[in-house]
Amino acid sequence: MLTFLFKLLGIKHNVMNNRIVAYLLKKQEANRHLVNYEPHNELQKQYIQFLPDKYAANLKLYQTQQNFFDYKDISKWTSGFYENNAGDLARFFGLNLCIDQLLEEGITGDIAELGVFKGNSAFLLAKFARLINSQCYLFDTFEGFDDRDFEGNAETRFKQDFSGTSLNSVKELVGTDNTVYVQGFFPNSLQQINELEGLSLVHIDCDLGAPFKAALEYFYPRLKKGGFLIMHDYSSLFWPSAKEAIDEYFKDKPEFVIPIPDKSGSCIIRKV
Ligand SMILES: C[S@@+](CC[C@H](N)C(=O)[O-])C[C@H]1O[C@@H](n2cnc3c(N)ncnc32)[C@H](O)[C@@H]1O
Repeated sequence: MLTFLFKLLGIKHNVMNNRIVAYLLKKQEANRHLVNYEPHNELQKQYIQFLPDKYAANLKLYQTQQNFFDYKDISKWTSGFYENNAGDLARFFGLNLCIDQLLEEGITGDIAELGVFKGNSAFLLAKFARLINSQCYLFDTFEGFDDRDFEGNAETRFKQDFSGTSLNSVKELVGTDNTVYVQGFFPNSLQQINELEGLSLVHIDCDLGAPFKAALEYFYPRLKKGGFLIMHDYSSLFWPSAKEAIDEYFKDKPEFVIPIPDKSGSCIIRKV
């Protein structure tokens, strides 16, 4: 079947297969070798073909133009969440590329994330906030899902997920400068802060339809033109209610969602 498909697509089956297998085998352990990445290190040269050129073959050139991306950040990306995030370097690179784009276009403004868990994605957002001197708002219960979000929802099997964290441990990983922690059930937790406006980057990673819908209703109108809205799990098939909420929300909006081939199938829009 696979051979037939490759033939149909005109792809040389063996070459393609070997590359995919090599990629899958390597990506789990890749971060170990990449944290101190130097494009001239013999061991690491083998990864160049699997990484964005900007951060590998052209790393030196990139560093003369912009310098947000840092391989050392991979250790925070995988801290306490190795089994998942080490296999999702595409997402790590994707977030960096979006931030680079905002820097290149000079789009500044506050940043927000709903769904922080241990802070593995939040630390990148907070790092960006520090660089552009804005605020990064981090929304989570910091105790896992809330029962209210499971009412009428088929995803109850995941109910216990994401309780293994705490506000203090996240603060340790992410830091506190330019960062506002908003602990509690979203959207009720919005009452703890002043109205947000002019957001440049919003990351929604709360898995379930109810908080996704509430987050889209709050954050989308507050995103500035050109701002990025990154939504996790859109194409994963693990969280159907999240995809439903996204599709429903963007039905009558000018932007189309663009699926991204990271592990959990994020999708993205830029505000027009
Ligand atoms: C997948 S985890 C976030 C992972 C994190 N963004 C990362 O990449 O490392 C989902 C998080 O959403 C939070 N969450 C889900 N629904 C929520 C709600 N209604 N209010 C607050 N937090 C919520 C959970 O507590 C959990 O920490």
